[in-house]
Amino acid sequence: MATDLHRQVTRPKDRKAEHPEDRRTERPATAVRVEGLTRAFDGRAVIDRLDLDIRPGEFTALLGRSGCGKSTLLRVLAGLDREVEGSVLVPRRRAVAFQSPRLMPWKRVWRNVLLGLPGHPDRAVAEQALEEVGLGHRSGAWPKTLSGGEAQRASLARALVREPDLLLLDEPFGALDALTRITAQRLVGELWQRRGCAVLLVTHDVDEALLLADRALVMENGVIAHDNPVALPRPRDPGDPRFAELRSRLLDQLGVENHPSAQAA
Ligand SMILES: Nc1ncnc2c1ncn2[C@@H]1O[C@H](COP(=O)(O)OP(=O)(O)OP(=O)(O)O)[C@@H](O)[C@H]1O
Ligand SMILES: [Mg+2]
Repeated sequence: MATDLHRQVTRPKDRKAEHPEDRRTERPATAVRVEGLTRAFDGRAVIDRLDLDIRPGEFTALLGRSGCGKSTLLRVLAGLDREVEGSVLVPRRRAVAFQSPRLMPWKRVWRNVLLGLPGHPDRAVAEQALEEVGLGHRSGAWPKTLSGGEAQRASLARALVREPDLLLLDEPFGALDALTRITAQRLVGELWQRRGCAVLLVTHDVDEALLLADRALVMENGVIAHDNPVALPRPRDPGDPRFAELRSRLLDQLGVENHPSAQAA
């Protein structure tokens, strides 16, 4: 996996490189390595000496109160914000999808999918990614004729066509109705299993994090304050007592009053 570094390089003194699995697959031990990351706005550090490692192929969910810096961190990892201190190691191939699909209204769906890709790839490349998200039949449509769920899937196709080693998702299901959201969550879970890329999913939904992720992180005071492994078999069952226990722990870490019936932050 090619890697790219913003700012100074800190070579990992990598204990994880000793892991037999890493030797077998010859993949680097980390997809993301962030050390001492600080991002300040107007003198206020929103991210404050944050450390984070994500393994190749790992699905990580990032939770935290509104305004705690989740999107800021995602933008840094996406390479959209370089006004930072500290070191950030991310795969060269990375892609990002935001809460709003951000499709160009004057370009047909397939052209949106290919937007910004080098080398003038042809329509078939876009259509393959659109098929993967169940949107092959809308390839020639204008974005304004798509439903919210379809537009979000087009945005996912645009991310997938980049064949990312790291997929960054910032509340991608936030604007979807409950049913469409469940379908979209399943789709992301399937895509992740098929593609094997590392995923960092920002979400406010504790159940969503526990349904999809290997780890659920909670950000607070500019750092990753809690790192919870989610060692539950897939597909996940929200009725599993271990799921309920993790939900309760996460809600606690988020400072949400924790009634047994509470499902989301
Ligand atoms: N370009 C900017 N200029 C000034 N302040 C900013 C800028 N971008 C973000 N901030 C501030 O940084 C803080 C963190 O913002 P961020 O968008 O990362 O939060 P978040 O955790 O994603 O919140 P939410 O859950 O509401 O999306 C906020 O206080 C925000 O106002
Ligand atoms: Mg945000």
